[in-house]
Amino acid sequence: MADQIVDIGDGFWNIRGSFRVGGLLDIGTHCSLVRRRSGGFLLLDAYTLTGPTLERVRALTDGGRAIEAVLHLHPFHTVHVDAVAALFPDARHYGTERHHRKRDAVRWEREPIEHPDTHARFADDLELTVPPGVDFVPANEGLHFASVLAFHAASRTLHVDDTLTYVSVPLVGGLAFHPTLAKVLQKRPGAADELRAWAERLVARCADVDHLCTAHMRTLPPQGPGAMPIAAQVQRALDKIDGTLKAHPRRHG
Ligand SMILES: [Fe+2]
Repeated sequence: MADQIVDIGDGFWNIRGSFRVGGLLDIGTHCSLVRRRSGGFLLLDAYTLTGPTLERVRALTDGGRAIEAVLHLHPFHTVHVDAVAALFPDARHYGTERHHRKRDAVRWEREPIEHPDTHARFADDLELTVPPGVDFVPANEGLHFASVLAFHAASRTLHVDDTLTYVSVPLVGGLAFHPTLAKVLQKRPGAADELRAWAERLVARCADVDHLCTAHMRTLPPQGPGAMPIAAQVQRALDKIDGTLKAHPRRHG
């Protein structure tokens, strides 16, 4: 399937790309281009742009020179990092502490993307938030729950990697928190309560969100006229993890 640019409007473009697991099944991946109030641009996440997609991004961004920073929001999404650093060598690159370790040829900004100081740096354009109560970079590299979520108020869009996933399968599908939650909840009292309180704030914040861009599965969650509001979809996702959060022991150790 060819790559696609979804023009959300108000300075937000979501690029739906290809990601093949084991070279076969295409589970898709994404990145987003955001126009800053200042007129510059940000790239959220990395994807190796090619052909018409790359041409369009270059046309929007003065040949790529107006892309001021690339924000890598998921610690385990590293496949396209080097290619994007090569495409946009003038941009500042912000990654998680794991990106710094795993892709050491990139000239990283010192402050990691998960740090509140980095969030403050982009606060004019984005609200960045990290789920608490979970391991951000677990030792088991298959546990992709945690990431940095990005709200773009100007376009009423939430860009999120695996923390929220969308599967377009009737009945069992829909929006859900990543199924590895139980394995990354920290083994300490209060961890599940912190995650729940954060997720409730997420639902409340989504009252002002009309567009939701999730990373994989190629298709975006239902949105727009006639679709269930994004906040209701996130609330439903929260309802689905209620049992996991309740089952998490309050005391460990
Ligand atoms: Fe992922």
